[in-house]
Amino acid sequence: MKNWMQVKIKDLILKSPLLTASGTSGHANEIEVLEKSGQILASLGAFVTKGVTLEPKEGNPEFRIAETRTGILNSIGLQNEGVEFFIQNEIQHLVNFDLPVFVNISADSVEGFGKLAAYLCSHDSAQIISGLEINVSCPNIKKGGAAFGTDPKIVEKIVKTVKKQIDPRLLVITKLTPNVTDITIPAQAAIAGGTDVLSMINTVRGMAIDINTRKPLLGNTIGGLSGPAIKPVGLFMVYDCFRSIPECRSGKIPIIGIGGISRWQDVVEYILAGASAVGIGTSWFVNPDVFREIHQGLTAYLAGKKIPISDLIGKAHG
Ligand SMILES: Cc1cc2nc3c(=O)[nH]c(=O)nc-3n(C[C@H](O)[C@H](O)[C@H](O)COP(=O)(O)O)c2cc1C
Repeated sequence: MKNWMQVKIKDLILKSPLLTASGTSGHANEIEVLEKSGQILASLGAFVTKGVTLEPKEGNPEFRIAETRTGILNSIGLQNEGVEFFIQNEIQHLVNFDLPVFVNISADSVEGFGKLAAYLCSHDSAQIISGLEINVSCPNIKKGGAAFGTDPKIVEKIVKTVKKQIDPRLLVITKLTPNVTDITIPAQAAIAGGTDVLSMINTVRGMAIDINTRKPLLGNTIGGLSGPAIKPVGLFMVYDCFRSIPECRSGKIPIIGIGGISRWQDVVEYILAGASAVGIGTSWFVNPDVFREIHQGLTAYLAGKKIPISDLIGKAHG
């Protein structure tokens, strides 16, 4: 039977274009709990971990999640046990997935990103990692907490620093923040720094106020909006990068489209806009069957049209 769903991210062949979006499936544990029928992992092309940092992080004060009518706001604050714990206790679970693994990395300085990348690659267990996804949406402590991703010079520097530290076999994916005026500027900076792949988008800044206490609902005041509300934003940003950046248009720098995907039709839209694969996050909190359902719907659509998904990449462009 033809595999309509196969895609390529540089030289890496994925059996499906569906990926987990970082932070929404833990480091393996959350999928392991829900994976009863074997169908979630079978639907995925790769697994993207929650953000890992050099040191353990407790995360932000509560509340960390607020529901909105068309998505959620989160301000988790990158809570995790740190890279040493990840290497010693968590990475081995990922071997059982039999999927390419992309480790999402976060740091509060350029040097921190370099150290973290070097540490990850210096261990034997790193053999199972296919790539690192650099989260440039995290706050730059030296610049008063503004996201690194809003400063193209720093984006380029982070990507260069990470590239220098790692085995060239590993793919470097730069995950962009949508909280900028023109996403193509940090995207081009990441390409200048040597990124292999772009992923977009991270969450959109937002907030909620409790009308009883008259105070911001999230402990951190500001959070990141995700879910169906942001799909048109993510879709436009993928479209814009594919349209304006020659390396994206030619397929040299593939794009992983993320933001608000909850149905197979959303995936088709992202692929037509120029994505080679997609990440799915918030909708998985609402519907634990979402990967299987999307995989099934998409396969039926492609088989009906007798077209492999890879032939649809960027076809919304003239
Ligand atoms: C609870 C939560 C935690 C997240 N943690 C991370 C993270 O650690 N690193 C990262 O790059 N993005 C993180 N994200 C952003 C998602 O990976 C994704 O880019 C965003 O949620 C948009 O996709 P969605 O609408 O499908 O959820 C997180 C999102 C949520 C909702």
